[in-house]
Amino acid sequence: MRLQDRVAVVTGAAGGIGKAIAKRLASEGAIVLVADLTEEPREGGGRTVEEIRADGGRAEFIACDVSQEADIEAAVARAVALGGRIDIMVNNAAIGTDTPLLETSVADFDRVLAVNARGVFLGCRAAIARMVTQDPLDPAGEVRGRVVNISSQHGMIRAPNDIAYGVGKAAVVYMTRQIAADYAPDGIVCNAVAPGKVLTGKTGRAIDPEMLAYSHSRTPWPRLGRPGDVANAVLFLASDECSYITGENLMVDGGWMAG
Ligand SMILES: NC(=O)c1ccc[n+]([C@@H]2O[C@H](COP(=O)([O-])OP(=O)(O)OC[C@H]3O[C@@H](n4cnc5c(N)ncnc54)[C@H](O)[C@@H]3O)[C@@H](O)[C@H]2O)c1
Repeated sequence: MRLQDRVAVVTGAAGGIGKAIAKRLASEGAIVLVADLTEEPREGGGRTVEEIRADGGRAEFIACDVSQEADIEAAVARAVALGGRIDIMVNNAAIGTDTPLLETSVADFDRVLAVNARGVFLGCRAAIARMVTQDPLDPAGEVRGRVVNISSQHGMIRAPNDIAYGVGKAAVVYMTRQIAADYAPDGIVCNAVAPGKVLTGKTGRAIDPEMLAYSHSRTPWPRLGRPGDVANAVLFLASDECSYITGENLMVDGGWMAG
């Protein structure tokens, strides 16, 4: 139980990678607040909170649009009401447009950035505002809270056919570094995890044969990613095992960015 009684918020945790993260943190003893627009996983299957509870874990759902300041503030306040503090903030929710520059409208660009960049800004701000006021719980007495932002390899290299998504992810990588440096003196650990191609069970463009062939061609590891690969990395960065590591963008990509 690496996170016994720690309080975590995971955005976009109704399905996909966020669901795996929420379940992994809960399996280590964390009280998890699932913050999403919906409780229904995009890929189908059970609700995150119900699955965590069925496994003996603790979780609650809150309806939350991460692009809305009031929603994020309410989510953090709910987490604090549940467990008296917020130890872990995972900013995972994201969207895309599936369009290149010339086919991306201003409205599309703004809509994506409102979630992928502003949503992460709001999540970090709301969580850290509370974290800096609470006592450290780690054995060394150093860390008041941990933030894990979900970025992407497509925040560092081009996102095929999705300029707004890539711009948002680049912002996440940048914010992670800035926040890590600015709030290190306050005992805040802030890192990112950059998944490569992860199969979540989603249909549509996510498993378009051309996209899958492209992902395989870019991924040295013989398989594509599983949500659990990302969840394990998040668990490490959210645990007491991670303190002197901060401002890092950890690739979980089967070697995509190495090759
Ligand atoms: N799956 C991949 O291959 C991959 C690769 C690189 C990075 N990522 C990143 O991993 C994270 C999760 O990806 P996924 O594939 O599981 O995505 P997904 O689309 O399957 O799930 C995203 C979740 O976020 C929620 N969401 C969307 N907009 C929201 C909003 N405004 N407020 C709150 N919740 C909102 C959705 O309801 C959904 O439950 C994202 O940040 C994504 O960019 C995924």
